[in-house]
Formats: sequence, C-alpha cells, structure tokens
Amino acid sequence: MFRNTDRRRRKVYQSWSAIESCGKLCSLCGNTCQRIIKMGLTGPQKGAIVSSWKTLTADMKTIQENGSQLFALLFQQFPDTRGYFPWFSGMSDESMKSSGVGRAHAMAVFNGIGAFVSSLEDQECLDGLALKLCRNHLDRKIGSSRFQQMRQVYGSFLDGALGGGATADVKAAWDAFLSWLQDFLAAEEKKR
Ligand code: HEM
Repeated sequence: MFRNTDRRRRKVYQSWSAIESCGKLCSLCGNTCQRIIKMGLTGPQKGAIVSSWKTLTADMKTIQENGSQLFALLFQQFPDTRGYFPWFSGMSDESMKSSGVGRAHAMAVFNGIGAFVSSLEDQECLDGLALKLCRNHLDRKIGSSRFQQMRQVYGSFLDGALGGGATADVKAAWDAFLSWLQDFLAAEEKKR
C-alpha cells in the first residue's frame, strides 16, 4: 500500500518519464548522481533519427547547408538569438550561409548532433555528450529556453531539408530527442 507521498512521487515520475534517479557515483564528476535524465526514445524513434540523419548529412555541402539553414530559421523566428553570434552581425542569411565562419559553425553543430545520433544505444555516452553540450552552452549563457526555441523551428527545418521524408513520426522522434536535451539543460541550469 502506498502512502500519499509515495503516490505523489510516483505521479511526478509518471509525468516526467524521462527522469530517473540512479544514486550511483557519476563517472563524469565523481559525485553521487542526483538525477539521470534518460533519453526515453523507442526503437522506431531511434531508427527514424538515424535514417533521416543520413539524408541530412549526405555530404559536406549538405551538412553546411542544413546546419546554416537551421540557424537561419532560428534567427528569423527568434531574432535576439543572433546576439550570441556577434561575428554574424550585419550579415544577411545568405552571406552567413556562404561565409567561412557560418559554414564552420554549421559543421560544428552538425558534428555535435551526429555524436548523439551515433550514441543512441549508449546511455552513458549520451549523458556525457549532453553534459559537455550543457557546460559549453551554459557558460555562454545559452540555456534551456534557447534549446526550446530550436525545438520550435526544428519541424520546419526538417520539412525544408527532407521534404516528404519529414513525416509526423520523424518529426516526433527529433522532438523527443530535443526535448530530452532541453530537460538536461534545465537540470544543469538549476545547479548553477
Ligand atoms: C542541438 C542543439 C545544439 C548543438 C548540438 C550545438 C552544438 C554546438 C557545438 C558542437 C559547438 C562548438 C562548441 C565549442 O567549440 O566550444 C557550439 C557552439 C555554439 N553554439 Fe551551439 N549547439 C546547439 C544549440 C545551440 C543554440 C540553440 C544556440 C543559441 C541560441 C547555440 C549557440 C552557440 C554559440 C553562440 C556557439 C559558439 C560558437 C563559436 O564560438 O564559434 N547553440 N554549439
């Protein structure tokens, strides 16, 4: 029989099914783990991410175009995000996309996403990648709300890049991934 507090706690865990407490020592920081945020993707969702990623990263030119387009959409819908990139100041979306620094950033971000895609079956590595990404971005004052904004444009990005391949299932799989990243950032933000 559950006491009221147990029932409440179970309810929280049900609504935040991506969050689990493991209580082990963290292999990254050595402290007792308070909260591991598991990426609760289903097998078909992982498959949808892996196969759509192949199209999104078909070759170097595609990577640079897609990485730049993702940020161009972010800048269009949330213009203040441009403020994090002073070196793009005054550049049109087109010159940002063709500039060396724009293409370099596009590749860095896509390499970052690619590392997650390659590690979907390795939760420990996923946690390590998420922690590194959080630290990198939180140090730059880029928090979970910015990742939420990226989530909001990601569906349109997939429509443009995949056309008919951006099915509802593909979009939902990517959204589950980005939602996990956003939760991870929010948890790290709270610790600061
Ligand atoms: C899936 C989401 C994202 C991934 C995988 C990602 C990945 C990366 C990577 C790998 C780097 C290079 C890290 C380094 O050199 O220190 C980077 C840098 C950066 N990211 Fe992100 N990022 C993401 C989302 C965002 C968002 C939402 C913003 C802002 C709204 C952002 C802004 C920046 C900035 C300003 C830099 C520094 C660029 C530079 O110094 O050249 N990122 N990101």
